[in-house]
Amino acid sequence: MAAPLGGMGAPHRPVLLRETIEFLNPERGGLFLDCTVGLGGHSEAILETSEATRVIGFDRDEQALAAATQRLLRFGQRFHPVHADFREVLRIMQGLGEEQAAGVLADLGVSSLQFDSETRGFSFRFDAPLDMRMDAAGDEDTAADLLKRLSEEEIARIIFEYGEERNSRRIAKWIVEHREQGTPITTTKALADLVARAAGKQKHQRIHPATRTFQALRIAVNRELEGLAPFVEQVVDLLETDGRFVVISFHSLEDRIMKRELRRLAGQCQCQHRTGVCNCGARRAVELLTKRPVTPDEFEVEANPRARSAKLRACRKLAV
Ligand SMILES: C[S@@+](CC[C@H](N)C(=O)[O-])C[C@H]1O[C@@H](n2cnc3c(N)ncnc32)[C@H](O)[C@@H]1O
Repeated sequence: MAAPLGGMGAPHRPVLLRETIEFLNPERGGLFLDCTVGLGGHSEAILETSEATRVIGFDRDEQALAAATQRLLRFGQRFHPVHADFREVLRIMQGLGEEQAAGVLADLGVSSLQFDSETRGFSFRFDAPLDMRMDAAGDEDTAADLLKRLSEEEIARIIFEYGEERNSRRIAKWIVEHREQGTPITTTKALADLVARAAGKQKHQRIHPATRTFQALRIAVNRELEGLAPFVEQVVDLLETDGRFVVISFHSLEDRIMKRELRRLAGQCQCQHRTGVCNCGARRAVELLTKRPVTPDEFEVEANPRARSAKLRACRKLAV
């Protein structure tokens, strides 16, 4: 089957696919959870490895889930789509009567379907309402809502922390000035123009000046960093002995949480202040399969520039 096309005609390529399959090892069969089904590329590869493999695929984006379900129709009952937030994984598994999984994958962040959408506001390449919600049917605030509601300090903090944007204060100030003048920023083009003006002319800039601000707002709208630590703990508890967990992050804050949690669950104390008494809950539940994160090679980055910031970490559940 041909790979689905992204909005710009670029084929959608699952990131670090070979490495993901090697670590998950789905040939042995069993139940695998794809927590971020997206366009279904990783799920498809998992299902192709063995007739004895099933996948439950979560996504909070109904549009993505529908596209993936269509792509994976040929696997029949072996693929089960669930429209949900993966942070609810334990509750949903219980609801489905499933107790354990042989492997769990989380390929975090935004999908090409979202990024290449001309109407959902994820990219400044298209003029659209500033929405950015992955769950477009949900009742969470859009990016435009946040820019209308939050204080100047909160907007600056989001843009600085999640976007590492050094002009965050000026950008936040101008956003708030606009809304005070009765012309709030509500479209991608208005925001991209404002950020470009705030950043001024810059020599040798590799990325568009609005890239960091858009990333930061997307993370805030979708609360992407919230609940990740408890999610890892839930996943590890769901894994059967020798079951695998693979996580791919695209943002340093996301990867930092994953690194810390996986080390903690491998029994390495993560307490900041060593008092001799560990209170971070370190326990030896998994063996780390990646001492350092695995990153895409130059060929993958050349073929798929969006893979450039990907970091993969993996672990294996120990016998309890
Ligand atoms: C990078 S894409 C996954 C791409 C996928 N691995 C593939 O091969 O096509 C990430 C997907 O995860 C979804 N997502 C992000 N956070 C989520 C969450 N908390 N719960 C459920 N889905 C989430 C997004 O909607 C998006 O479709």
